[in-house]
Amino acid sequence: MLTDDFERRLIENTQPVRYFFLAQALHHALHLGLFAALDAEPGARADALAQRLGFDQHRTEALLRYLRNEGYTVLADGWSLSAKGREVQVFAPWFEMLVGGYAPSMEQLGDILQDGTLYASRNTTKVGEGSCGIGRYDALPLVEQLIDKADPGSRPETVIDLGCGDGSFLMDLLVARPGLRGVGVEPNEGSVVLGERRRAELGLGERMTLKQGSAQDALKLVDLPDGGRGSAFMTAFVLQELMEQEGQEAIEQLLASAFELYPEVRWLVVEMDHKPLSPVMGSHGLALNFYNPYFLIHAVTEQRLETREWWDGLFERLGLTAEVVAHPDPRADSTGLQFGMLLSKQK
Ligand SMILES: C[S@@+](CC[C@H](N)C(=O)[O-])C[C@H]1O[C@@H](n2cnc3c(N)ncnc32)[C@H](O)[C@@H]1O
Repeated sequence: MLTDDFERRLIENTQPVRYFFLAQALHHALHLGLFAALDAEPGARADALAQRLGFDQHRTEALLRYLRNEGYTVLADGWSLSAKGREVQVFAPWFEMLVGGYAPSMEQLGDILQDGTLYASRNTTKVGEGSCGIGRYDALPLVEQLIDKADPGSRPETVIDLGCGDGSFLMDLLVARPGLRGVGVEPNEGSVVLGERRRAELGLGERMTLKQGSAQDALKLVDLPDGGRGSAFMTAFVLQELMEQEGQEAIEQLLASAFELYPEVRWLVVEMDHKPLSPVMGSHGLALNFYNPYFLIHAVTEQRLETREWWDGLFERLGLTAEVVAHPDPRADSTGLQFGMLLSKQK
């Protein structure tokens, strides 16, 4: 039973357990503002921190000590963030989406494995918020590329973002491009509430509206001028949602009726290339940290990923051409697994 290397093997084999706890602790501490409060006031006392944040003092102290032992906080004349603690704040959206959004789904993995008719639930508000935050580094520059490289005569001036999450992706795009107008459409009420708050904070009320609804309602929610010229629908990581909820035919119908009603409109699509067995998956750090869990959670929740070739085939059958194709800036994501297209109807 007990060998002389047992403790070494125990430590080695329980590393995933350590990181399971660490990921959860970091997510909650980031999400609830503990890191931001420590950053704003280095050397804070735990009782004052707890009071300011509306936390229980005893539990706040326990969390601060736990984070100290993992190297994120420092105790010396009060509590502060370490350099590692300051750095991790940049990456909060990855924790928001994968941990805040999908930890509830992973909890259900055993049940849904044994019953293929069930879907694991998730925290959709956190998924939307985290996804938009991640998009600031990958999908947003990608969409900007798609817009910049569009034919000047049909370059989008209004973007209708279907499944916009908390709308922050669209808002970041509007902030980056002062000439652009936006409409955000999102079925999840919690995301719309967050979006309304942020829209007011950014003073974007004149240039952007937010509507609660699903992508399938898009054509009822907007009335575009000039046969859609100068407007673009956008689905960033949302066709994958419709695939499992409504099926391929519903996507085909949505795209076909949008281009029939608005022959001049454009469609910005951002998706992931579903290649869980690609060589990159075993060798690339981002593929292991992000895409490997991403591919798994999409198989257990009500979403379905498809390959780039599969999407190409669907768009081609509908007579849609990719005017521009783009990938994220390789400084943010060099896996080649995320892609975007600007689609138009072939004449
Ligand atoms: C992964 S998030 C993407 C959010 C945002 N588009 C982005 O790029 O980060 C997927 C979003 O799609 C929304 N969604 C789910 N089903 C939808 C549907 N039928 N129509 C529109 N949006 C939907 C979810 O509520 C969620 O906010």
